[in-house]
Amino acid sequence: MKFGYFDDAKREYVITSPRTPYPWINYLGTQGFFSLISNTAGGYSFYKDARLRRITRYRYNNVPIDMGGRYFYINENGTVWNPGWSPVKTELDSYECRHGMGYTIITGKKNGLKAEATFFVPQDYDGEVQQLVLTNESDAQKTFSLFSFAEWCLWDAQDDSNNFQRNFSTGRVEVSGSVIYHKTEYRDRRNHYAFYSLNEAIDGYDTDRDSFIGLYNGFGDPQAVLAGEANNSFADGWAPIASHYKKITLAPGESKTLVFILGYVEMPVDQKFEADGKTINKVKALDMIGKYDTPAKVAAGMAELRAAWDKLLGILNVTTPDDKVDRMVNIWNQYQCMVTFNLSRSASYFESGIGRGMGFRDSNQDILGFVHQIPDRAKERIIDIASTQFPDGGCYHQYQPLTKKGNADIGGDFSDDPLWLILSVSAYIKETGDWSILDEMVPYDNDMSKAQTMLEHLKVSFYHIVNNLGPHKLPLAMRADWNDCINLSCYSDTPGESFQTYTNPKFKAEGGYSKVAESVMVATLFTYTGPNYVAILKHLGKDDEAKAAQDAIDAMKKAIMDSAWDGDWFLRAYDANGEKMGSKECEEGQIFIEPQGFAIMSDVGKEQGTDLKTLAAIDERLNTKFGLVLNNPAYSKYYIQYGEISTYPGGYKENAGIFTHNNAWIICAAAYAGQGDLAFKYYSEIAPAFTEDTSDIHKTEPYVYGQMIGGKDAGSDIGRPGKNFGQGKNSWLTGTAAWNMVAISQYILGIMPDFDGLKVDPSIPAEWDGFTATRKFRGADYNITVKNPNHVCKGVKSLTVDGKAVTGNVIPAFASGTHEVIVTLG
Ligand code: GLC
Ligand code: GLC
Repeated sequence: MKFGYFDDAKREYVITSPRTPYPWINYLGTQGFFSLISNTAGGYSFYKDARLRRITRYRYNNVPIDMGGRYFYINENGTVWNPGWSPVKTELDSYECRHGMGYTIITGKKNGLKAEATFFVPQDYDGEVQQLVLTNESDAQKTFSLFSFAEWCLWDAQDDSNNFQRNFSTGRVEVSGSVIYHKTEYRDRRNHYAFYSLNEAIDGYDTDRDSFIGLYNGFGDPQAVLAGEANNSFADGWAPIASHYKKITLAPGESKTLVFILGYVEMPVDQKFEADGKTINKVKALDMIGKYDTPAKVAAGMAELRAAWDKLLGILNVTTPDDKVDRMVNIWNQYQCMVTFNLSRSASYFESGIGRGMGFRDSNQDILGFVHQIPDRAKERIIDIASTQFPDGGCYHQYQPLTKKGNADIGGDFSDDPLWLILSVSAYIKETGDWSILDEMVPYDNDMSKAQTMLEHLKVSFYHIVNNLGPHKLPLAMRADWNDCINLSCYSDTPGESFQTYTNPKFKAEGGYSKVAESVMVATLFTYTGPNYVAILKHLGKDDEAKAAQDAIDAMKKAIMDSAWDGDWFLRAYDANGEKMGSKECEEGQIFIEPQGFAIMSDVGKEQGTDLKTLAAIDERLNTKFGLVLNNPAYSKYYIQYGEISTYPGGYKENAGIFTHNNAWIICAAAYAGQGDLAFKYYSEIAPAFTEDTSDIHKTEPYVYGQMIGGKDAGSDIGRPGKNFGQGKNSWLTGTAAWNMVAISQYILGIMPDFDGLKVDPSIPAEWDGFTATRKFRGADYNITVKNPNHVCKGVKSLTVDGKAVTGNVIPAFASGTHEVIVTLG
């Protein structure tokens, strides 16, 4: 069942029912000011840091769901409604929500009155612009009251949600004309305030929540709105809010456009106040308000925003036989990659914005998805991440975006972290041809006195693996590898201990983790990423070092085949007792997804047919109609030697959930192995646009990936296998976005930046006649036509560039111009 449709020409998803199976959200802002907005206008705003500079309040895990947002209330002769249906939930005569690239338009109609609200954050602007167009579509004059609403957060979202003994007494506001200012703590130690403005005179306002809503009322029945009149209340302590009140009369056919701005202002300390020393200096706010105080200015701001997205989305465009692929590649997957770059894992409807910082591995992988759109910012991000590394190649697992410093509470010793840096730096060079990133001086542990070149960082990353091998010459698993929930040194039996950071006394003497437990996943990630490091060394003429690195990769491949090939697939790990994990010999969890794709893509044991055998095992044991589960069978009890993975009921998260991130690795591997049909099957099982028809089952947004989908074992713990199978969770902020962008664009469609140029090596469904693509790459434009006359999946028979034949499948990089590329498969 669908709840809307894609409008590809406008790059919008159009939601036609407010009762989506979960709030379906969008993000506004890409620079400093960000908002989350649901299809019923729920959500909140923050400046740069979702925890420390929260502008409006939001209550997570609320009942009912998604209460709190920016709301317009209309009261026409006692009929009270919102253009976005919620929170009043009066049945509308029509409802529509258009989520577009950085903007959302919500339109509701009731009794001949139409209200269209457009929300966006303009370019280079620290505020959310809200334009409300009210139109009387009836043939009689209409008079009604309009109320706006926003609830201020007292800046630090964490403190705001637990320090009530203080917070109920600190709230402060100022009202001047039609602008309501929020200035809690501004007099004391803060140099920033927020405001909510309207570009017309108002008939009243409220700034005190209890006066507006009423202590025993909710967002759905605020007493001021029900009364049809504001109280002009002034918050002093308790909970400050901002609500404008305006009486409006519209003749038949008449329209009225209002512009509201929710803005954020920082002031130099010596200019915080007017001459009286206590009134807010409003110069900057008024200047911001002046930028968008007419519909014409708003239209210009929207046009600028559209132009910015045209540019970002103009680098790669494809036309394939499947419009769902086109809308994912050209629009939504790229959009999600940008949002994920901006937000990392901080703020979504599943990430509270007060949780974790930026992940070393997460942010490195995110680079893969957006490096073509904004290579300069990718470079900056890579350097920020690498600056938190330790001199021995180990890494802080997370860092804080405001300080850019490693997070000591979480620490390091996640075995996979260093390898992702090799991958992100390689992706940056492959995209840009800018080898100079290797010469950048990058600190260790943020200490500039310990800076070394980025190349040196790659070296210590590579050797961090080689220098930390276990009994089978496989990499030590440490606290966890990519799978945060396989914790082989934790042995935790006490509630509250973090599986990732708790050090079991039994391993204290060994440095905090077992020197026996080994990760096959890291071994295969090493053989997959290592060749990039070798290629870099060769390019720099460092042949001896390249040879040494290649020897280490070959030795790892041998170790994998000697000790980690289970006959039909690769093992997952050796636990701290030296027992196999992810083997046929295991009672549960016999096969895991993570090591398999990287092994296939690095040809481990290929001569013995490991690639096709592994793919067959995956298809048989892990595949479902909603994607590939992470492991099988699911763990049905707690295995103290494995850790968090066995704490989830079967079918959820890392315990046999469909973890979409690692599905991409199998999609890539199947494509790599020439199985274009198989790759596409797995792609279409999870790609959001393909789940649109089953939105009632999938529940989360059909335009973006989520981290997890309930697996086939979901419900097995309660004797109802199949319950919640296919149900999506944790949408928006996930490495899935980047990896599936890589999977579809680089592996299936095969347009893959390489060190020496643009490689074209598609692995597509055999039934496709071909496809076309345009790609901007290192200053030149390529019009690529792929023909598939013999209906194969893979294999470039001929390649011509501007009419001339080229041997192989790499287009040499031109510095400029437009080039016609014709690729014939066969
Ligand atoms: C989450 C984390 C990621 C981890 C994955 C598997 O998505 O952000 O770092 O690799 O879970 O545990
Ligand atoms: C939990 C989650 C995992 C995530 C981690 C982040 O372990 O299950 O997916 O990566 O927390 O700290």
